Amino acid sequence: SVLRTLPRRTSTAGTRRGFASESAPDRKVAILGAAGGIGQPLSLLMKLNPLVSRLALYDIAGTPGVAADVSHINTRSEILGYAGEEQLGKALEGADVVIIPAGVPRKPGMTRDDLFNINAGIVKSLCTAIAKYCPHALVNVISNPVNSTVPIASEVFKKAGTYDEKRLFGVTTLDVVRAKTFYAGKAKVSVADVNVPVVGGHAGVTILPLFSQATPSANLSSEDIEALTKRTQDGGTEVVEAKAGKGSATLSMAYAGAIFADACLKGLNGVPDVVECSFVQSTVTDLPFFASKVRLGKNGVEQVLGLGALSDYEKEGLEALKPELKSSIEKGIKFANA
Ligand code: NAI
Repeated sequence: SVLRTLPRRTSTAGTRRGFASESAPDRKVAILGAAGGIGQPLSLLMKLNPLVSRLALYDIAGTPGVAADVSHINTRSEILGYAGEEQLGKALEGADVVIIPAGVPRKPGMTRDDLFNINAGIVKSLCTAIAKYCPHALVNVISNPVNSTVPIASEVFKKAGTYDEKRLFGVTTLDVVRAKTFYAGKAKVSVADVNVPVVGGHAGVTILPLFSQATPSANLSSEDIEALTKRTQDGGTEVVEAKAGKGSATLSMAYAGAIFADACLKGLNGVPDVVECSFVQSTVTDLPFFASKVRLGKNGVEQVLGLGALSDYEKEGLEALKPELKSSIEKGIKFANA
């Protein structure tokens, strides 16, 4: 509130509570892959988040420059830059939230699964370090294929004895961001008011937007709904093709990653009713991992919410996505245990 941002004349030394952000608890966020296409704008957005008190930027190279640059921004958090594997432990120590956008992005013609061979190994090694240096952190996995990298992370944590299903998240927020934008355009409603749950996974047909539950509701035709569904599923490919070999979504992904990390921080801080869609361990379907609405709290996942009422089109989509999602999950688990 305005009042709380005013300096308090009555405050005494040792109780520096002049700014609202300073009364928020200390929270350390670490970004792994911070010098990359997503990592850099995500570092910027997390530097702007008043809930963050320390922001650790880690990459195999390039982070000193990014950290020096971001550190000049006059917002609350202290910026700590780390480069190279020998500094990974320091980057992670004490982290409340770890965001992982490390890995290679798609080029035209590639599926997310084509990234598996490289990114699976990167996620495995980063999660091994997380288990060692900050086993209680909430982990936000952005690296694709999310449908496999999240199960990989879970297996690594299980082996280390640190697995807590409440603290592991696949970031699917970009699918929600896209669904909201595309729906607002088609339904001609104000985008700021729009909500659309997106469930399933994070690749092609496994991305299932539930436009029947979209608010504000609009009487869209089944052709419109189908077109919106396809566009949401292919949103990543739309960007990959437009970038023509220069990578995949970075700016919109950084925005989505910042929204999701902010929700995690709010949950940790005890803000009530923080709900975002995420790919988590789940009993919503017969698959061990599934994206749906999740209520976030002081320990991470407080509640995995069900799917609600589905249209016939969505029911078909749900059945159709299960085989692909199941095999991507199994591929991740198999890799982690090989
Ligand atoms: P990029 O190539 O621009 O950046 C990746 C960064 O990761 C580089 O700076 C690289 O040095 C770093 N890196 C590589 N190995 C590392 C390691 N072992 N430890 C720490 N850092 C390491 O790629 P971009 O565009 O930032 O994409 C990153 C990942 O995010 C890709 O896997 C991409 O598919 C995924 N992605 C996920 C989305 C989602 O909705 N979940 C959306 C868009 C991209």
